[in-house]
Amino acid sequence: MKIAITGKGGVGKTTFAGVLSRILAEDGYKVLAVDADPDANLSMALGFPEEKVSSITPLSELKDLIAQRTEARPGAIGQMFKLNPKVDDIPEKYCIEHDGVKLLVMGTVKAGGSGCICPEHAFLRALTQHLLLGMREALILDMEAGIEHLGRATADCVDAFIVIVEPGQRSIRTLKTIKKLAEDLGVKKIFAVGNKIRNKEEKDYILKACGDVPVLGFLSYDPDLVEVDRLGETPFKTCILYTNQVESIKDSILKAIDN
Ligand SMILES: Nc1ncnc2c1ncn2[C@@H]1O[C@H](COP(=O)(O)OP(=O)(O)OP(=O)(O)O)[C@@H](O)[C@H]1O
Ligand SMILES: [Mg+2]
Repeated sequence: MKIAITGKGGVGKTTFAGVLSRILAEDGYKVLAVDADPDANLSMALGFPEEKVSSITPLSELKDLIAQRTEARPGAIGQMFKLNPKVDDIPEKYCIEHDGVKLLVMGTVKAGGSGCICPEHAFLRALTQHLLLGMREALILDMEAGIEHLGRATADCVDAFIVIVEPGQRSIRTLKTIKKLAEDLGVKKIFAVGNKIRNKEEKDYILKACGDVPVLGFLSYDPDLVEVDRLGETPFKTCILYTNQVESIKDSILKAIDN
């Protein structure tokens, strides 16, 4: 299972990616959570303690290593580089692990555009493919807001895009753009999750607005989440309703990906 969590800014991607990763780990999955947002904060939503977070080296800082393994200079355009660099030693050295979830932080990696990939992306792709050869393994990518950075590189790493939407036209517009992009990139599976829901009207609005994109479930608006975020903690298990709702969405994801 390899999915990218996407959507408009502030819609709830990171919170969802964090709690989903923790639930999958508790189910016995080997989980690799990838923080693909340059403004990285997935570690918090996952509940990593501060001392572990400070020991993370973002992938983008491994320039020499990536250059050496891909035989390219990161950032250079229009050059040849290896698409299958050696990565088997990377998880041990550069991912940090807590409560069964491995975390890789990308840092600021320049988007390759929809048609091409850069050495950093080739490296990440090799890494995710290397890590996910077996059953009961999950890759959860927490993406940067919006669509500019969604390209070939992300599409090559995942089987499905999950777009978080909230009751409002702006997040729905982002969903529509991501859907078009996913089609262009050959990502066949695209799903929506409704977040910050306060009543039935809002659910109905989302169901209608998502059109033919399947809605895998809904997450209620929960003021406790804002408080947990303020404290820099994970909502996993402290926000019980939210955790239960993510659990049920996880079942829908597994079914939808199987089909
Ligand atoms: N169901 C919810 N109810 C109430 N608040 C929520 C809910 N989901 C997320 N939030 C809050 O919304 C804010 C943004 O959430 P989060 O950081 O997960 O969004 P994001 O989409 O990752 O944002 P960004 O685009 O900046 O990466 C946080 O304060 C979070 O606690
Ligand atoms: Mg985020």
